[in-house]
Order: sequence, then C-alpha cells, then structure tokens
Amino acid sequence: MGWISTPRAEVDSALMAKSSEPEILRTGKRVYLRRPRLADAREFLALMEASRRLHRPWVQPPGDRKAFGLYVQHASSPRAVGCLICLREDHAIAGVANLTEIVRGVFQSAYLGFYGSAPYVGQGLMREGVGLVLRLAFQDLKLHRVEANVQPANTRSLALVKALGFKKEGYSPRYLKIAGRWRDHERWTRLADD
Ligand SMILES: CC(C)(COP(=O)(O)OP(=O)(O)OC[C@H]1O[C@@H](n2cnc3c(N)ncnc32)[C@H](O)[C@@H]1OP(=O)(O)O)[C@@H](O)C(=O)NCCC(=O)NCCS
Repeated sequence: MGWISTPRAEVDSALMAKSSEPEILRTGKRVYLRRPRLADAREFLALMEASRRLHRPWVQPPGDRKAFGLYVQHASSPRAVGCLICLREDHAIAGVANLTEIVRGVFQSAYLGFYGSAPYVGQGLMREGVGLVLRLAFQDLKLHRVEANVQPANTRSLALVKALGFKKEGYSPRYLKIAGRWRDHERWTRLADD
C-alpha cells in the first residue's frame, strides 16, 4: 500500500511544508489576514512589548507565551476568528483584528477588537486590515452585525471605526476592566447592509 512505502522523511517534509504555509483568509492591496500560529510567538510578543505605550490604556494584548497560546487556541474556536494583519511585502505582523463571541440564530453578531503594532501604525494598514476583517465577517461568515467598544478618549480608534462606516449606538459606563480599572466605552456598530 502506498502510504506504507512512503519514506518517513518525505512525509515529514510534506507536513512541514503544509504547516509552514498558513491559510490566507483575505488579501488586500498591502496586507493580508491569517490566523495566528504558535510559531508567531517570538515576533508577536516582541511587537507587543514594543507597542506598550501605543496600547495602554486601550487594550491588553497577550503579553507572554501562555497568553499567546490561549489566543492561538481561541483564534480558531467556533465562536471566534482571530486574525493577524500581515504585510504582503515581507509578511511582518502589522496588527491584529479579532471577531469574538460570534452568535448565530436570530442575532448573527460578533464583537470586533483590534490593535496595531508600533512600527507600523499611521500608514493606513490597520484601516485596510480591519476593513478586510469586516468583509470576512459580512461576506464569508454572513454576519449581520459587528460591534466595537471604544473608550471615549481613544481618538485613533474612533477615527478608524468611523472611517470603516461604524455608527455610534450608545454609551456603556464602566464597561470593560482594562489595566486594572473599569472603563467607560462607546458602543459602535456596523451592519451588513450599512
Ligand atoms: C487604533 C489603531 C489600531 C490605529 O492604528 P493606525 O495605524 O493609526 O490606523 P490606520 O491604519 O487607520 O492609519 C491611519 C493613519 O495613517 C495615515 N495614512 C497614511 N497612509 C494612508 C493610507 N494609504 N490610507 C489611509 N491612511 C493612511 C492616515 O492619515 C492616518 O494618520 P493620522 O492619524 O496621523 O491622520 C492604533 O492606534 C492602536 O493600536 N491603538 C491601540 C489599540 C486600540 O486602541 N485598539 C482599539 C480598542 S477599541
């Protein structure tokens, strides 16, 4: 039988080739989306370390290998799609955008979270990448609603969601506990037919 006679080294290299080519979920002009893998840990954690000032007090990305491992696991769970936003040019990780708590049935909704990595902000890459995630949400996953919760003073994120067609729906006092404090958030949503 064919599979018995296949040399072990061939099988190993075929598996390695497969695992070294991550599935690309969406491609844009400058960036593409793919799921995170454990092999990204070193690059990811170094970028997060370099981005602490950018992220605080808005988000708390995974900061160590254990948290990153949980993120990788969660990124492919039935109720979430975690995406790295990578440069087409050299595959560097420019940022992250995640759809979480995907609820089906009569709701067809998900939460959107995102953060850039410091060396790549201010170039429109996050706008492009998060835009791709919305296409994935509405066209591939057929969701009806995506919700982003943003702190009122987070002007860069507010600019991003506005640019991507989100509308402000409301205000939630002491909504998320970030960096040790319950923080007020504005609720912004984009509907599939917006
Ligand atoms: C929010 C965040 C992701 C925005 O990142 P960003 O790189 O500034 O976002 P964009 O991709 O939209 O880039 C916009 C900037 O690129 C500039 N730009 C340059 N070339 C561009 C292009 N081709 N297209 C669009 N914008 C371009 C824009 O003028 C804008 O700069 P400005 O703010 O000085 O006007 C980043 O600030 C971040 O990580 N913040 C912390 C995490 C966070 O708050 N997450 C959200 C929690 S709700």
